[in-house]
Amino acid sequence: METFYLSIPYLFCTVDQKINIHETAFVTAAFRAGDTTLSMDRFAHLWADPIITKHAMRYSNSVSAYEGYAHCLRNRYFYDTLKELISKENIEVLINFGCGFSMYPFFLDASLHYIEIDTVDVIAYKKEKTEAWQKEGLLPERKITFLEANFNAVSLQDLYKKLAVIKAAQRSFILLEGVLFFLGKSDTNRLFHLFNQLQGPEEFLASVSFQPQLEKQAVFKKLIDFVEGNLEKNQQFVYQTVPDSFYKDISTYTLVDHQDSFSLSEQYKPEKKLPFEEILNEHMYLLRKN
Ligand SMILES: C[S@@+](CC[C@H](N)C(=O)[O-])C[C@H]1O[C@@H](n2cnc3c(N)ncnc32)[C@H](O)[C@@H]1O
Repeated sequence: METFYLSIPYLFCTVDQKINIHETAFVTAAFRAGDTTLSMDRFAHLWADPIITKHAMRYSNSVSAYEGYAHCLRNRYFYDTLKELISKENIEVLINFGCGFSMYPFFLDASLHYIEIDTVDVIAYKKEKTEAWQKEGLLPERKITFLEANFNAVSLQDLYKKLAVIKAAQRSFILLEGVLFFLGKSDTNRLFHLFNQLQGPEEFLASVSFQPQLEKQAVFKKLIDFVEGNLEKNQQFVYQTVPDSFYKDISTYTLVDHQDSFSLSEQYKPEKKLPFEEILNEHMYLLRKN
């Protein structure tokens, strides 16, 4: 497999070249840059370049023309949710699992501690670029800890030990956004076990996933076709969808909010009519530890 540094210039150059899972994070960043008034991610454009934007367009054309819009809605929902909880609930640390190139640290409160977790390639690249942009004055200074992890690992105990020390008693918000589709069931269970170990009462956990019902729709089949043709998958890859019951049945957490692309669109752009069949409907779950 090519290294991340090598693959960036080349990956979007030919349509034949498959991309790695971690490189999907460029596409979501490009989507968020498409409507910053809605997404509120005013730094997403830093990741974009014409080749990445072209790839995002190719994905939109193949799967759904509404994917850019849906990603802006998702970012906006977490932006608004986090802002409110930070002010009301005294959140002290945001731990973003599979952070990709999302930019929450830079458009949220400077008082927070941000823990950014992703694959070795994403973390190395994100750290290098954000530090360079901070030096240039393009990004504000923030307290950020970058951590490398592989959620497919047979044990997450090393990651847990590191996080337990860094997080300590701080009140946390854990975010798992755009990741579960790429993971298997046992990886997912291990991650949620880690979340439960790490968090104390009244702390928050947000997760994004597709519901199994979506698998029957043509738009999901288009996604699978696109992934099959364009993504370099790993052994654990199963196109995971997750039923509501997974979240409702976690005995140590209470589901306090549940949104999807349709409800968010109704909230932020009520005038916009969404064609049901063309929406790759994502669900956002907000849980609070009991
Ligand atoms: C579609 S991107 C989403 C990134 C970001 N959360 C967002 O919403 O823009 C998926 C992210 O999950 C990360 N990821 C997928 N599988 C992973 C694994 N096994 N271990 C660590 N990170 C993983 C990828 O590297 C990538 O950054």
